[in-house]
Amino acid sequence: MKVHDARFLLAATDSKSWPKEPLPEIAFAGRSNVGKSSLINALLGRKALAKTSSKPGKTRALGFIEIQAGSSRLRFCDLPGYGFAKVSKSERAAWGKMIERYVTERDDLRLVVCLVDARHPPSALDRQMIEWLTALGRPMQVVATKLDKLPRNKQATAVKKLKQELGLPVVGVSSEKGTGKDELWRVLAEATA
Ligand code: GTP
Ligand code: MG
Repeated sequence: MKVHDARFLLAATDSKSWPKEPLPEIAFAGRSNVGKSSLINALLGRKALAKTSSKPGKTRALGFIEIQAGSSRLRFCDLPGYGFAKVSKSERAAWGKMIERYVTERDDLRLVVCLVDARHPPSALDRQMIEWLTALGRPMQVVATKLDKLPRNKQATAVKKLKQELGLPVVGVSSEKGTGKDELWRVLAEATA
């Protein structure tokens, strides 16, 4: 996909500040540090449009990014990561509410990209997220991240294993190496067409 333009619109901690212009939107969900912001940057061919960090739990708001790709305009939403232990209970509850509200109420949401780490079986929280989206009837695409951290000959097997464990299609990616970018863009383009 040719990305002509991408700009960070705003970081929203409140539903009142969600962008109002109707545009097809794709959200990126997954536990803290799984690689959401890195994947967004890789898809957009930008180094630091979505904020990444070595410190998990950095993304504390919904980050909206407006994109002109191919002949379409669309938006990405970088969701705060779940499952980060080192925050207070009340803060965790607040993020949970924020994500829940977004996923249940956002009209323009076309697809939730659910990120899981390619190196591990899906966690209980990953499963909860996926089950919850299924129950809500929200279209989703599971993505296995950080493939480059596995030896080349183990990568395909890891993706296949996740597919079997979740019973869902999985796209394997490496934001570091650009693996899986084209395959994922095809899914995103179809979801927003
Ligand atoms: P939160 O915003 O805290 O929820 O995290 P996040 O899911 O946005 O993760 P982020 O993209 O910030 O990445 C976390 C760490 O993993 C960073 O140190 C990244 O450099 C690293 N990382 C992300 N994707 C990849 C990848 O494909 N390969 C490798 N080797 N490292 C990656
Ligand atoms: Mg992030």
